[in-house]
Amino acid sequence: MTDPDDAPAEVVPSAFPHPLAPTEATTQVMPTSAMPTTALPAAPTEVLGAPIPPTADAAPLRPRERQGRLRLTKRGRILLIAGIAIVVVLALVATLVIANRLGEQAAADERASAQTAATKAEKAFDAASADATDAATGLAELVAGASSGLTVQGEGLDETARAPLQEAIDAANTVATDDAEPSGLAEVPDADVAPGADDRTAAAAFRARADALEKNTGAEKKRAARLGDAAGALGDAMTAYLTSAAASGAAVLADRGDASDDVKAALQTQLDALPGTDPTGFAEALTNYRTAVDAVIASSDQARAPTPGGSGVRITDPTSITAVVNKRRGLPGNYVPPDLVIPDGIPNNNGQPVRQVIVPDLKAMQAAMAAEGITLRIGSAYRSFDDQRIIYNRYVAKDGVAEADTYSARPGNSEHQTGLVMDLDDGTGCNLSLCFANAPGGKWLAANSWKYGFILRYGDGWQPIVGYRFEPWHYRYVGVDVATDMHNKGIRTLEEYYGLPAAPDYG
Ligand code: DAL
Ligand code: ZN
Repeated sequence: MTDPDDAPAEVVPSAFPHPLAPTEATTQVMPTSAMPTTALPAAPTEVLGAPIPPTADAAPLRPRERQGRLRLTKRGRILLIAGIAIVVVLALVATLVIANRLGEQAAADERASAQTAATKAEKAFDAASADATDAATGLAELVAGASSGLTVQGEGLDETARAPLQEAIDAANTVATDDAEPSGLAEVPDADVAPGADDRTAAAAFRARADALEKNTGAEKKRAARLGDAAGALGDAMTAYLTSAAASGAAVLADRGDASDDVKAALQTQLDALPGTDPTGFAEALTNYRTAVDAVIASSDQARAPTPGGSGVRITDPTSITAVVNKRRGLPGNYVPPDLVIPDGIPNNNGQPVRQVIVPDLKAMQAAMAAEGITLRIGSAYRSFDDQRIIYNRYVAKDGVAEADTYSARPGNSEHQTGLVMDLDDGTGCNLSLCFANAPGGKWLAANSWKYGFILRYGDGWQPIVGYRFEPWHYRYVGVDVATDMHNKGIRTLEEYYGLPAAPDYG
């Protein structure tokens, strides 16, 4: 058996030769047996295998020997191995140091990245959360507005549209109520790492926070979408309600064409705006719309209602100077003569007007009386429907209805409303008194007024026909032609002249 020490040291070239390893050429060392021992240098040269120049004494190397079987001493091999180990260890250490440095840098980078992600996630969450809160507020306001709008009721609204809107309100309310429940958001861990915390710990904390926030952001976006959808559906239902209301209002307008133009125009304005009303103004728009509808209906009702007026047959042409007004023939309550004036030059106790149509004859009569030294004074003349009501009610309060009805007409049944009547006086102290019949003015009028178109209306003893006691002061203008004709025919009353029923009472 060969002594390993004596065995040729064959150094097999490594597949990955160490940079410091000798090249094949340089590691081919002569076998020790072929070397002159005395000429060999010390051990290090054996290890590092510097080429040994052949000496003159050395036998020439055989080709096989030159190709390199290095024979090392035991000590050499130990040193070689140790060297290699040291190199390997150093390399490992260096690798570890570098890897460690790289790892630390990566951790620091990850910490910064995670912190940025957490900050970004916080902002995104805050925005999504604010959007969801706004959506919740908006939905609550919409539900309140729609509910308030449904309390507006009456003409011009489509009753069949109430149920669908109520359903939409209920559905939206359910979403709003559910939303008010606990949020169900994931708990977001704090990332308050201690100042000295290592980067990996801090990065993990930031990353966990960012992840939780992103998850919650998604939940808040879904929540906002849910609330928004509910608001959209309710808004659609409110618009549909307004549209149907507008259709009902248009029908009212068409049916109430007899309303006054101003209220009809106001309603049309409301109708035009109604379908496009912003849902936030729902209730207010409906309230204003209903007010406009009511105004049209009220105006129309007024136009359709029988005009209040006097009792009995309604006089159709109150402007006629021969219109007969008595207890059986009434004037429209709203009749006002078209040509009222206060004639100048004639004393007028109450400042009441007469119709212009009587003024020329009145002045002629005044002149004729004046020629005979008689003063003509006007007491009462035109009295409106309301004026007459006040007067009549005062007499009723004083004397009772039965007594008042003998000397005072009820509103709508007084000749004074025609503007063709005057209670006359001559200033001799018999104003509105029976003594006027014997006063100069009273006597002159009874004999001559017909010439100027005036007739005594309530003569002595005529009550069964005309309805009132003797009033020697109450003269009615009927025009010179009629008055003259009546005089010539000896007819005292208009009822008799026109063949009308007597009017002793209101029937
Ligand atoms: N004095 C009369 C009748 C009137 O009141 O009209
Ligand atoms: Zn009178």
